[in-house]
Amino acid sequence: MFTRLPHDLRPRRDVVHDVFPVRARHAALAALLASLMLPASRSFAQSEPTALIDQQHCMFCHTNDAPFLAPSFQQIADRYRSDPQAQVMLEHKLRAGGRAHWGDMAMPMPAERGGPLSPEDAHTLVEWVLRH
Ligand code: HEC
Repeated sequence: MFTRLPHDLRPRRDVVHDVFPVRARHAALAALLASLMLPASRSFAQSEPTALIDQQHCMFCHTNDAPFLAPSFQQIADRYRSDPQAQVMLEHKLRAGGRAHWGDMAMPMPAERGGPLSPEDAHTLVEWVLRH
């Protein structure tokens, strides 16, 4: 409507607010900021071995907090929290496979997940999983 007004007749602030309610603009801005900040906060979180996680497609089957095709990393961390052998056992399992502990479906071997996994990388990944 006010697009037809002469240019020097600026719409009053309250008219603008009617067209774009403040709340909606805040929501849109918050969504925009969230989408901009997500990639940044991910790459800045040094404690997440992001490149390894991507390369081995961990998040293809796992999520941090909800069971999906596989137990969530929180469930796994809870299960092994008080087990001092878990770190070494899981590192081995991540590299060499092993009997399923959660159901019938075993985790695929590194070659099927994206490539060979060194002992150091397996260590890093299991440490990260158990920190959940
Ligand atoms: C193709 C799907 C898939 C991918 C990719 C995958 N996982 Fe799994 N993962 C599973 C399944 C299924 C299980 C449950 C296996 C079982 O019962 O022991 C599992 C179990 C685990 C466990 C617990 C094993 C146990 O013995 O309790 C850990 C730790 C784990 N995954 C870490 C990872 C990490 C780290 C990655 C990335 C390097 C990864 N997973 C990638 C499917 C996957």
